[in-house]
Amino acid sequence: MNGNAPTTANGALPGGGAASGRCPAGGGAAPGSPGCPIAIDPLVGALAEETEALRTAGPLARIDLMGAEVWTVTTHAQARKLLTDTRLVKDITRWNLWRSGEIDESWPLIGMVDAGRSMFTVDGAEHRRLRVKTAQALTPRRLEGIRPVVEGIAGRLLDALEAHAARAPEEPVDLKSAFAQPLPMSVVCSLMGVDPELEPRLHQLYEAFFSMLTPQDERLAVIQELDDLYAQMVRHKTATPGDDLTSALILADEGGEPLTPEEVRGNLEAMVAAGHETTVTLILCAVRALLTHPDQLQLVLDGEVGWEAVIEETLRWESPSTHLLMRFATSDIEVEQTGVVIRTGEGVVMSYRAIGRDREQHGQDADCFDVRRPAPIRHLAFGHGPHICPGAGLSRLEALVALPALFERFPGLSPAVPVTEIRNRPVLTQNELESLPVRLR
Ligand code: HEM
Repeated sequence: MNGNAPTTANGALPGGGAASGRCPAGGGAAPGSPGCPIAIDPLVGALAEETEALRTAGPLARIDLMGAEVWTVTTHAQARKLLTDTRLVKDITRWNLWRSGEIDESWPLIGMVDAGRSMFTVDGAEHRRLRVKTAQALTPRRLEGIRPVVEGIAGRLLDALEAHAARAPEEPVDLKSAFAQPLPMSVVCSLMGVDPELEPRLHQLYEAFFSMLTPQDERLAVIQELDDLYAQMVRHKTATPGDDLTSALILADEGGEPLTPEEVRGNLEAMVAAGHETTVTLILCAVRALLTHPDQLQLVLDGEVGWEAVIEETLRWESPSTHLLMRFATSDIEVEQTGVVIRTGEGVVMSYRAIGRDREQHGQDADCFDVRRPAPIRHLAFGHGPHICPGAGLSRLEALVALPALFERFPGLSPAVPVTEIRNRPVLTQNELESLPVRLR
């Protein structure tokens, strides 16, 4: 799909060839510059090294996303500028690699750029029309109404963990599958009115969808099954509306132009997909960070630092999204102070993990987890501009319920394996842990 040999984060060629600081494709170009893209590892084998390589490459770096060469943004200041630049749009038909046929539905990351019609994929007035009802459902006042639902789900999951601890106090438990994963899934399903019985199947489908190890024909079958499931839900809710956001979207009448069933399906799909994995990561990474920084955990348990600080610092330090979502240039964009020109038709993603570690923005100790950082921590983990995450308040609420409740019930919580052994799942867009084995007592 592109003729250049990409380097991985540590300067090695994918598959083993070595290089250091110079492009293995030759020509002396630095990794991350045009002609010498840094290959983003789909198996997420060395996230810290990858973040460092991107940071070294500068505010804009050329990356190889499984065969597609695009730009990525690595600094806070440039991300803020480019996320509000109307010359960058979500419309995939503007992408040169798509137009030329070099990228098509067989690309493993197709879900990142061609996710069907929803607020994810449109801009301008159309975007506002698709987004407004969802955003209204997640205002701080509305979230207070959702809080008891979150508390109820978290409480039930913690009861089950307590029963496990009573039965088998020595036996480790995977905090991901037993707590951090089901909580956000159940919350977003409850918000959208998705039948709870579907949750286990949705979980399986999203595991396969996001994993870069899933063969592409299987992924396309997963996407089809998800589309069919959500279309069926929209038909059902249209016939028998309930007290949920999907029904509200069906009944919405924005300026006399109701959303089409296809648009409701797209938004429902966007909400469930975006509304669970990211929050799972937030909760797990916060727990892992606290368990590996016991002095900071103590400050929080002593009430000297609030849980909000833990959540914001985790969002900055271990951004749940690593590389997300692609935008396309509708004209040449000269990026100030970088010497880079993004050419018409080129793709641009945001490397949120590198952005959260930006030293210009967060100081020379940006790589350190420190809940004592002065508030507010101005991170961009939820994006910026018109597409900023509408679920930010909900995920903060979930973490704010989950974390204190977990540590209150299990003050002796400890890792059951050395944390260095905890791997990431092969998910290119998310900082998703494979598991988090812990001892509860
Ligand atoms: C820690 C948790 C979360 C993180 C880090 C996160 C991150 C993000 C980011 C970076 C974007 C911007 C994408 C872009 O600019 O193209 C985004 C958009 C979005 N998020 Fe989240 N998100 C989280 C939780 C949620 C939740 C809980 C929901 C829903 C319940 C949600 C729903 C969405 C939707 C629908 C969009 C698309 C908005 C648009 O395009 O206008 N997210 N999220």
